Amino acid sequence: MRDIRNIVILTGAGVSAESGVATFRGPDGLWEGHRVEDVATPEAFVRDPALVQSFYDARRAKLGTVGPNGAHRALARLDSEWPGELLIVTQNVDDLHERAGARRVLHMHGELKSAWCLACDGRIPWEQTLADGPTCSACGERGLLRPDIVWFGEIPYRMDEIDAALQRADLFVSIGTSGAVYPAAGFVQTARYLGARTLEMNLEPSQGSVFFDESRIGRAGELVPAWVDEMLGGTKVR
Ligand code: APR
Repeated sequence: MRDIRNIVILTGAGVSAESGVATFRGPDGLWEGHRVEDVATPEAFVRDPALVQSFYDARRAKLGTVGPNGAHRALARLDSEWPGELLIVTQNVDDLHERAGARRVLHMHGELKSAWCLACDGRIPWEQTLADGPTCSACGERGLLRPDIVWFGEIPYRMDEIDAALQRADLFVSIGTSGAVYPAAGFVQTARYLGARTLEMNLEPSQGSVFFDESRIGRAGELVPAWVDEMLGGTKVR
């Protein structure tokens, strides 16, 4: 077994569930009462922009009512104390990793607190609503801002950086993701093929569970702090 120096951590909706943020694939198959195709595709935005904007406005507003949980805080501690390379690749569009203090975070599916101007192609920090068609602070165009979210059918952000980190990883850890959505769902296979150890922590075995050397089943708020203690205490992942 290689010594562990470089770590890539993939997080999904399950890491924010204990903060009160809804996961995408609930038992009813709906995301906050909507089919994913009705709110998270470019086609949905063309068909009914008001619905899509209001949906994300509500998600953005909800961020103000939730806070990081023990899993976010533990990962932030690992980020600040781990001497090797570390990258938290999150599929989440909330800002709870950052609010817990993590710095080495990459949002591959975009961020609620960012808007994308379809006039000037700029991305601007955004805290307010978009449904009312506000003006882009970069170019002055009105009504052409959309959520800076990667929808189904769109290409995730910063894939080159993610790929480079996976190439160097000694350990790949997946937390709170169902493994249903590619390309993120395929990271474990890349990392494993390149020789990294692989560990998942999830409430249930993910769809790619077979690709992990180890699966820890339970709540992220309990499993992640214990794992971070192991890592910083010098115990290697089996
Ligand atoms: N602790 C650990 N895991 C949990 C917890 C918890 N407290 N609560 C739920 N989970 C697990 C669920 O069992 C599920 O396997 O988290 C996973 C969440 O899966 P999804 O809802 O599918 O979310 P995610 O994998 O992040 O979705 C990926 O799909 O809709 C798109 O772009 C969206 O980024 C999202 C992507």
